[in-house]
Amino acid sequence: MPSININGINLSYTEKGNAATRPPVVLVHGFPVDSRVYAHQLEQLSKLTRVITPDLPGFGQSKTAVPFTITAIAETLHEMLKKIDALPCVFGGLSMGGYIALAFARQFPADLRGLILNDTRAEADTSDGKNTRNEMIEIAKTKGARAIADQMEPKMLSPKTLVARPEVVAKFRAMSHDVPAETMVNALTAMRDRIDYAESLASIAVPTLVIVGEDDAVTPPESAQTLVEKIPQATLARIADAGHLSPIDQPEAVTRAIEQFLGKL
Ligand code: MLT
Repeated sequence: MPSININGINLSYTEKGNAATRPPVVLVHGFPVDSRVYAHQLEQLSKLTRVITPDLPGFGQSKTAVPFTITAIAETLHEMLKKIDALPCVFGGLSMGGYIALAFARQFPADLRGLILNDTRAEADTSDGKNTRNEMIEIAKTKGARAIADQMEPKMLSPKTLVARPEVVAKFRAMSHDVPAETMVNALTAMRDRIDYAESLASIAVPTLVIVGEDDAVTPPESAQTLVEKIPQATLARIADAGHLSPIDQPEAVTRAIEQFLGKL
């Protein structure tokens, strides 16, 4: 897995395919997982173009945990993509990665050819949401990262998957049990403090694909509907029998939705 140093931050990323006829596609993972959440999409979409899946600081192979904000990490990723000659691009992200995608869209519209918002939302945390983040930060500090992963697990996948597909649950555990407590604290802080992107949705001027698992209990279909209503060129892909981590819950359906989107760009 290549890695690159951007202003003192070491970022590892996986890439596959080449961008001869289509812009590269960048897919950023959510919390508390890593770039492996997009393994299926990386493999399949790389037949169409160059696909890049970074690990955010402290996650996966980006071993050094550093505090970050959603806007600053969008800048860091932009710098990284510039250095590896992957701009302009189609930028996408899952949940926390979607918050970063919205920041990227606002900060770097000229380098964007398409946007993929996967099980995410535009609104900032409510005050109750911020309180929950603070409680989770305390749990990560006092009980460790595993306690956070265990607390989140029931909301990550569809109810059917949780009961009947232990291999998918194992994928979530393999990623989330690897995340150090310090990284959990950094990401929870970044999500708690992120700004609201609802007002900037109307100015997104590129084709946008909104993907949501029909059983998403964290960023439910209503959040996706809001994105679709406010972003001028948005289309919605609802994924049946998928929870919040739709790219591992129903990988083929998510990949197909992205393939169709890329085909129309
Ligand atoms: C994620 O999947 O990235 C997080 O659950 C999003 C969040 O907690 O806001």
